[in-house]
Amino acid sequence: MSSYRVQVATGDFLGSGTFSSISITLVGSKGESPKQPLNNVGKDFLPGAVDEYKVSSDRDLGPLLLIRLHKEPYVFFPEDSWYCSFVQLITPQGETYRFPCYQWIEGHRTLELREGTGETLKDAENPLFMRHRAEELKVRQDCYSWAEYAPGTPRCLAVESIEEMDTNMKFSITKLSTFLLRSKLAKAEMKMKGLLDCQQSWKKLEDIRRVFWFNRTPVSEYVADHWMDDAFFGYQYLNGVNPVVIRKCTKIPANFPVTQEMVAASLAEGTSLQQEVKKGNIFLVDYKILQGIPTNTIQGKQQYLAVPLCLLYQTPSGDLMPIAIQLSQTPGSNNPIFLPSDPEWDWTLAKMWVRNADFHVHQNICHLLRTHLLAEVFAMAILRQLPMCHPLFKLLLPHIRYTLQINTFARVRLIMEGGMMDQATSAGYEGIGPIVGKGTQEMTYTSLCLPDDIEARGVTSISNYYYRDDGLKIWTTIESFVSSIVQFYYKNDDHVQSDPELQAWVLEIFQEAFKSRKASGAPSSLKTVAELTKFLTMVIFTCSAQHAAVNSGQYDFGAWIPNIPPSMRRPPPTVKGTVTLEHILETIPPVNVTCIALSSLWLLSSEAGDRRPLGYYPDEHFTEEEPKRFIKAFQDHLAEISEEINKRNRSLPLPYNYMNPSEIENSISI
Ligand code: FE2
Repeated sequence: MSSYRVQVATGDFLGSGTFSSISITLVGSKGESPKQPLNNVGKDFLPGAVDEYKVSSDRDLGPLLLIRLHKEPYVFFPEDSWYCSFVQLITPQGETYRFPCYQWIEGHRTLELREGTGETLKDAENPLFMRHRAEELKVRQDCYSWAEYAPGTPRCLAVESIEEMDTNMKFSITKLSTFLLRSKLAKAEMKMKGLLDCQQSWKKLEDIRRVFWFNRTPVSEYVADHWMDDAFFGYQYLNGVNPVVIRKCTKIPANFPVTQEMVAASLAEGTSLQQEVKKGNIFLVDYKILQGIPTNTIQGKQQYLAVPLCLLYQTPSGDLMPIAIQLSQTPGSNNPIFLPSDPEWDWTLAKMWVRNADFHVHQNICHLLRTHLLAEVFAMAILRQLPMCHPLFKLLLPHIRYTLQINTFARVRLIMEGGMMDQATSAGYEGIGPIVGKGTQEMTYTSLCLPDDIEARGVTSISNYYYRDDGLKIWTTIESFVSSIVQFYYKNDDHVQSDPELQAWVLEIFQEAFKSRKASGAPSSLKTVAELTKFLTMVIFTCSAQHAAVNSGQYDFGAWIPNIPPSMRRPPPTVKGTVTLEHILETIPPVNVTCIALSSLWLLSSEAGDRRPLGYYPDEHFTEEEPKRFIKAFQDHLAEISEEINKRNRSLPLPYNYMNPSEIENSISI
């Protein structure tokens, strides 16, 4: 008779325990134990409990391969869900086996769990393991099927509502309640003040401060004080909420005929535009991707969207200053090039049109497409192609936590017809699909890999670019962590090539995210350990640091609506010298639309409870010692980066903290 010690851990959060009857079967290479109930005196499987049992078998089972957990009805108790964290077994010979679970077991069913050692298909020689992997993937592919969000955009999870989603991908009770509370508070406050019913223009800019006065942040206050400063306008291209669109200008575009005379007053003495272009001090942001995007009607009023070009100059003192703005792509007498020397409100409004265009590119492309929708494809492909015992499933699962739910929420509440983006932005619902579609068409692998992207945009040496500095440190640290994991599980390039599950995962991403577009430069297969390491680094970086960079500052920078007007009610000016403050107040959104935009920005800027910062993996999917050591080293490196950022920030008038590892979430969950 062999006796095994069995420890069963239940999740340590509200609702994770169960009243159901739980039994276990042990499966070893020499046979199976009989199914035995796990039942101690008193209540079993309470939240946070690690219950211990003795399980016997009349024969030696040999090395243990897997276990079966049977969840069955218990007397009159209603059916409930159980969150099992892990099962640990100690054999009669004193060997320990750990079976990670970290999932909900709903209804009455049997769940098979593999021992936790990471294993690629190549190493899965036992036919039992081959069957187990195939069955697991079949179930997941049925559960997570693809649907189209809009033509030409990455496909997404096929559910119509959050209720239809698999519980394992849903918010925890803590996160859901915090999230809903924040959402209700934001609306209740504005309702109370009567602002949501006010369709009038703001009477003066200062009145905007009254909205959300108790939610102000040090950054939102700074923005309200500095939004008209040219240096701050330039600063936001480096360290604002959209720090990824600025590029070095190597040639003044033919459709943006800026002359030396126009910009002479903005340049340092003794130099010229051509000289500064040559020296690499001139930068360009071109919003041509917005050309032809349909515009919205809000409260019966036509809204407008410009398609601007903006030229910037880095001064010898390191400030990045806008020096010329053209509001459409076709030069001409009714499309003046606005300059800092123009009347103050002309120049201010020109910058506001650029900020409005930037809002659309930021929200639809840099934020929605290039982080949220991309992460959803990564998540779907992970769930559909990698079994739980695959080392890359273990590596990546923490980085897709809550992503399917937040994206489903966005589709049913935010970006659908009548949702926030429709109620408060120039492009509205009709414009989102085309913008995201164009963004998908232009998305390149280079632009998703930060070191390559920095190089390609020609911004390696621009000063005060904290997004770049912090991002590159994080990229390198993720790369080093990923590299150690990859080299532990993949002995050589051949092993990478002969892992069909890994290859199916990469191919599915190529097909769904990049629409099988070879010109994207994205891989459809991976041939080497180095290629795999880079690809995984891109995935983890996108789901964590990159999302933090384009998400966390939304309220900070957007709360002061004149800084990022989400919609414009009057067409762009075609001549100079006509703009007044009144004209500006009639152009930016009226009171109620401002409030709708603000409440969404506030809800979506910060994580709602139940956070897991980058590199923090409380669910131990890896059970071997080496990966655990790699995780510890990763955490130590991140802590060092955090310390460096804290130190740097102490000397800055406006600290840049969005890429501080302690503030970055492991996954896109907001
Ligand atoms: Fe987000």
